[in-house]
Amino acid sequence: MSKFFQHPQALVESNNIGKGTRIWAFAHVLPGAQIGKNCNICDHVFIENDVIVGNRVTIKCGVYLWDGIRLADDVFVGPNATFTNDNFPRSKQYLDEFSQTFVDKGASIGANATILPGIRIGRCAMVGAGAVVTRHVPPFAIVVENPAKIVGYVETKKQSFEPDSAKQGTIESNVGGVFLQQIKHVNDLRGDLIVTELEQDLPFKVKRIFFIYNVPNERVRGEHVHKKLHEFIVCLCGGVSIVADDGQIKEEYRLDRPWLGIHIPPRVWRALYKFSQDTILAVYASHEYDSTDYIRDYSEFLDMIK
Ligand code: TYD
Repeated sequence: MSKFFQHPQALVESNNIGKGTRIWAFAHVLPGAQIGKNCNICDHVFIENDVIVGNRVTIKCGVYLWDGIRLADDVFVGPNATFTNDNFPRSKQYLDEFSQTFVDKGASIGANATILPGIRIGRCAMVGAGAVVTRHVPPFAIVVENPAKIVGYVETKKQSFEPDSAKQGTIESNVGGVFLQQIKHVNDLRGDLIVTELEQDLPFKVKRIFFIYNVPNERVRGEHVHKKLHEFIVCLCGGVSIVADDGQIKEEYRLDRPWLGIHIPPRVWRALYKFSQDTILAVYASHEYDSTDYIRDYSEFLDMIK
């Protein structure tokens, strides 16, 4: 028999509650709910039937977990954060199945945030207090405001560097195989020019070039890793922030001048965000397009590099 603590004023109808979990006054847990070990369920929490809560989860006061909510291990839910499970609620009209919301391992949700139905909040992501989350939150992203937008990535060091247009050559990063490259830049009264000698200047043979443009500022692109593809990214116009992550170290770089590129090797997770309106990216790639070369799930990426 699992041994969990139940305050005498709590109403606990489920038998599926892990050892060491504490359920405080005026909380109500319905019979179907599953709650892991060593959780803390604070006063005035309501947990419906089709709810799964992992281990070491903290649910602060005044949180209601409706059918379809899934909280993984080590999740923190701040006071009065609001979950939803029906996109178009009407009184006395019941869905056959409610949307599921997943909050992945280690993620935190700030006080009074609202999470729309059917959303996934990625591993270790941080939802700011009062944010209204209307779309999936990538792993490690920090989101704020209504509608929630990404303002940064947790545990990610912004690499500061002073690029020098008069110099060519590489600027090393701390993320495995990633480096910035100062591209040959010819300054001219008639207009500037940058040039990349494909054979000499890049550490791989280029098979493909594509361009990214017209990206709305709030969008994140490239949330994935490649199994064998090398990429060299140049921001021809505007600016973009790039997060690179080798599974151990995460760093962020700002590309905002055409004579600065970044090499991202295979097996490095990347996210591109904070696009300025006029951004045009050129991406040199080592292979033809192959959808099977992508991994878009962060846990799968971690498994791959193990
Ligand atoms: P994708 O690389 O998946 O972008 P992101 O990871 O930022 O969402 O590209 C988006 C779409 O463009 C995808 O459906 C496939 C298509 N695509 C090609 O057909 N060829 C290419 O060379 C690239 C890069 C993308």
